[in-house]
Amino acid sequence: MLQLTIDGKRVEAQEGMTVLEVAGSEGIIIPTLCYHKALGPYGVCRLCIVEAESPSLRRTVVASCALKAREGLVIETATPRIISMRRTLVDLLLSGTVPSSPLKELARTSGILREGFRPERTDQCILCGLCVRVCRDSIGAGALRFAAGEENRYRVAEGIRLEEERCVGCGTCAAVCPVGAIQVKDCAEERDIVVYGETANRLKLESCSCCGAHYAAQKFVDRVLSRIDEELRAGIRKLCSECARRYYAEALTGFFPVEIKKVQRTSGTEQRP
Ligand code: SF4
Ligand code: SF4
Ligand code: FES
Repeated sequence: MLQLTIDGKRVEAQEGMTVLEVAGSEGIIIPTLCYHKALGPYGVCRLCIVEAESPSLRRTVVASCALKAREGLVIETATPRIISMRRTLVDLLLSGTVPSSPLKELARTSGILREGFRPERTDQCILCGLCVRVCRDSIGAGALRFAAGEENRYRVAEGIRLEEERCVGCGTCAAVCPVGAIQVKDCAEERDIVVYGETANRLKLESCSCCGAHYAAQKFVDRVLSRIDEELRAGIRKLCSECARRYYAEALTGFFPVEIKKVQRTSGTEQRP
């Protein structure tokens, strides 16, 4: 175990943990926008900056999401210098996009009170890149990209673009977006991936073979199945999570017949106007 100090408190950390993770495990909240635990650090938003010092490191400002814990490190998360730098960063974000609720909350906690911003963009995207990375690195689809290219992602007018052919409709991009600039809208038998308020892709939804509920995009289900051994695939039933839970519970206990009755259920999705 490593010993370090965060805001005057002695804490322990395992080898490999970042300062952001150690602080979080101690209940010390450091604001973030481009960090997600499913992805590695990216270091773009800089909101997670802290002051760090150790016998081998002179006092410096660093992004805590990318700083690995090490023995003897002394961290300050809210010095006047850090608060002032974070306020400038939030101010910059506010002048670039239509402020979302999380951004407004950050502005409030940073002490920014001014209203009536005139943002350069007409959407809420802060160009953090989480959606691009999760689609490429976790889903393996690579359907999202910065319109102006990775090198020029701060050309604010252009934002991100979605390539329909590559998108499998999993919705992970919407799940990781910190400001709601991407959304998933299920309606009847279709799923829309909505980027900046516009439908960027529309996909057919798969129905549960037991209850008929729509539970995932067909293209996504096909992609998952294509990665499974052919022999195994033949025995797989297309079930929603609720029916899958019942099916396997019944199969495991052996007290109930494995074959489950067809149940009538409405899908719970809206009707498209
Ligand atoms: S919904 Fe499409 S764009 Fe979004 S993560 Fe999934 S594959 Fe990528
Ligand atoms: S759409 Fe969301 S996740 Fe993607 S870059 Fe913009 S703010 Fe980040
Ligand atoms: S969360 Fe660390 S730089 Fe964005």
